[in-house]
Amino acid sequence: MAYPETRLRRLRKTGALRSLIRETTFGPMQLVQPVFVLHGTDKREPVPSMPGIERLSINHLVEEAGEVFESGVPAVLLFGVPNDKDEAGSGAYDDDGVVQMALRAIKEAHPDLICITDVCLCSYTSHGHCGVLDTDGEVNNDITLEILAKIAVSHAQAGADMIAPSDMMDGRVGAIRSQLDQEGCSNTPIIAYTAKYASAFYGPFREAVESAPEQGDRRGYQLDPANVREAIREAKLDDEEGADILMVKPALPYLDVIKALNETSDLPIAAYQVSGEYAMIKAAADAGWIDERDAVLESLTSIRRAGADILISYYAKKVAQWL
Ligand code: PBG
Repeated sequence: MAYPETRLRRLRKTGALRSLIRETTFGPMQLVQPVFVLHGTDKREPVPSMPGIERLSINHLVEEAGEVFESGVPAVLLFGVPNDKDEAGSGAYDDDGVVQMALRAIKEAHPDLICITDVCLCSYTSHGHCGVLDTDGEVNNDITLEILAKIAVSHAQAGADMIAPSDMMDGRVGAIRSQLDQEGCSNTPIIAYTAKYASAFYGPFREAVESAPEQGDRRGYQLDPANVREAIREAKLDDEEGADILMVKPALPYLDVIKALNETSDLPIAAYQVSGEYAMIKAAADAGWIDERDAVLESLTSIRRAGADILISYYAKKVAQWL
């Protein structure tokens, strides 16, 4: 008796048949590389919890952006590491802020590289929360919305191709959309961190941008890891408010959320393999416990299989080179 599966076995061993019947593929074109930018010149600062990832001053970032583009990865996601912080995070919309200056420099050197910017207050506020605080220590949603909209406009005017609000305030997509439209940036799309969970996997990132909250945590505004229907509701709201792309974050622990949004929304979906996901693979690989390349490709394939169109990963450039 010949089993259908057995008939395929011999050909499956040759890469060609494996490729012919492979259900999930991705290439450099689906990837986005997150990058960290510092003030100053000629600075490269390693992020200790993310070996292989550095915070770069603008001149080095421009070189790095060139390498990302050369590798075939079409986009970077830009995070600023400001020198100064205050209660209201006002450095975030400074025209001479580190992100705004970096945008102008990157777009001048590599005009075809897509620059996405993270819009949030946490690395710009002295208290480390993603919004402005009232005297009782609670985040003031509505005042924060005005500031976020200002940040988005200042990024768009400095050359950002797409705005990615990661603060999780209510109504932020609508507030940013209407301000962008009013300020002549109606063609700048918004990639909304729709399903951003209150996750332990952001630890290394908070070291990279020095944004850990001084007091309390982000559970008031980020999603509870136990909930998936809440993510679907957030996706509907973001869609109604004018989001162009939805994001799920972290990625690997939330494959079911990616799938749920893929099935319930017709917007493109991005998934963010976050700093903690990177750090886990890296640490195990550096210890010789897993094969780095195989583990990364398997993780990204799974994220894609769950339904993500866009993969945001600290491994993006590396993956493009491997492929
Ligand atoms: C800012 C922000 C965070 C990340 C992206 N934007 C961290 C947080 O909410 O604490 C995490 C990215 C990563 O871990 O790689 N709000």
